[in-house]
Amino acid sequence: MAAFDVSGDYTVTVEEWEAIAKRTLPAPAFDYVASGSGAEETLAKNTDAFRRWDIIPKVLTDVSERDLSVQLLNEKLETPLMLAPVGFQTIVHPDGELAAARGAAELKIPFVSSTVSSFSLEEISAEINGQAPCYFQLYWPADDNVAASFVARAEAAGYAGIVVTVDTPLLGWREKDMHHRYFPIETGAGIANFLNDPVFQATYNQDGDLRGNEQIPAIKRILLRQNLTWDRLAWLRQQTTLPIILKGIMDEEDALLALDYGVDGIIVSNHGGRQLDGTGSALEALALIANKIQGRIPLLVDGGIRRGPDIIKALALGADAVLIGRPYIYGLTEGKQGVKAILTSLLKDLDTSLAITGRTHISSINRSVVRQYQGFK
Ligand code: FNR
Repeated sequence: MAAFDVSGDYTVTVEEWEAIAKRTLPAPAFDYVASGSGAEETLAKNTDAFRRWDIIPKVLTDVSERDLSVQLLNEKLETPLMLAPVGFQTIVHPDGELAAARGAAELKIPFVSSTVSSFSLEEISAEINGQAPCYFQLYWPADDNVAASFVARAEAAGYAGIVVTVDTPLLGWREKDMHHRYFPIETGAGIANFLNDPVFQATYNQDGDLRGNEQIPAIKRILLRQNLTWDRLAWLRQQTTLPIILKGIMDEEDALLALDYGVDGIIVSNHGGRQLDGTGSALEALALIANKIQGRIPLLVDGGIRRGPDIIKALALGADAVLIGRPYIYGLTEGKQGVKAILTSLLKDLDTSLAITGRTHISSINRSVVRQYQGFK
């Protein structure tokens, strides 16, 4: 029997959930989730890249016992799947991050909680209640005291690591959002971590008489720091004993710099095609970066993963684990059950694909499992 045992209906695909989200959500909210920056060239490349690699299955091997677990940093994960940080989730469902985090926790899937979540990091970790590891994603504010406070709060609340997003010195050129004049933070979603932060409140709401929405201009002013540089990582290292993972690396030299600066892990990512349009796919960057890193620190990847075989390809090209963003947010249209449905489906697909690839252990997936599509000769 498979180690990951699920039951139910697995027929609803990410594409179907996307269609449900499109039907259900107001157009500005749906487009905020689904779109990429610029001409959406990178958004398309992220999914297309998976078609450029072929899995080579082995046959006539005993695949009756399977193990999807992986070791990542200090944690044993039951599967190599994690939920990427996605902000402002109450624009999709009133229970937002609480529903997503709980749905993931019930399946033992780690949740990465965004700085711009609609519930505080403490509320989210309480909801997860130790059922699965969780990580805090830091948009490094343009005020180090607030950054330090966020990190200290995450450590106190039991988060297993700090994911520092480094591809967002400012927001990408998101044409659909500009067209709708829609910026989720203006709706009051995504500000809970600031409203609950003692340092932010003491600094920017000194008399304590600003209501939540009135604090938005100050939050917007300090949310993203444009002058963040590598040397600040040494300062961050002093703030916490938690693992530090950089999210948003696409360059091999940057990956080696990250290693030099002592980070504990890297998430190869172009932010789901939402930051710089025109970059290559995350999968392609992963293959190049994995060659340089040679297993010295864990590598994760996100961007374009929609099905089980995509996960196998990412692991074969050097990832220790993968994250998904939009797929679970489309499921969140129907709350926790929707999130669980899409995750269950993806994991069942992964388990099935692993077996038919002729492998039994996720941890044994390596470069020999894939080859680059050459076209017909
Ligand atoms: C994101 N992403 C993101 N990343 C981050 O570090 N902090 C954040 O707050 C957000 N917010 C966010 C909102 C929405 C609506 C989306 C779709 C994405 C990027 C996310 O973590 C991840 O890199 C991508 O979503 C991965 O690509 P896929 O799986 O969506 O193709």
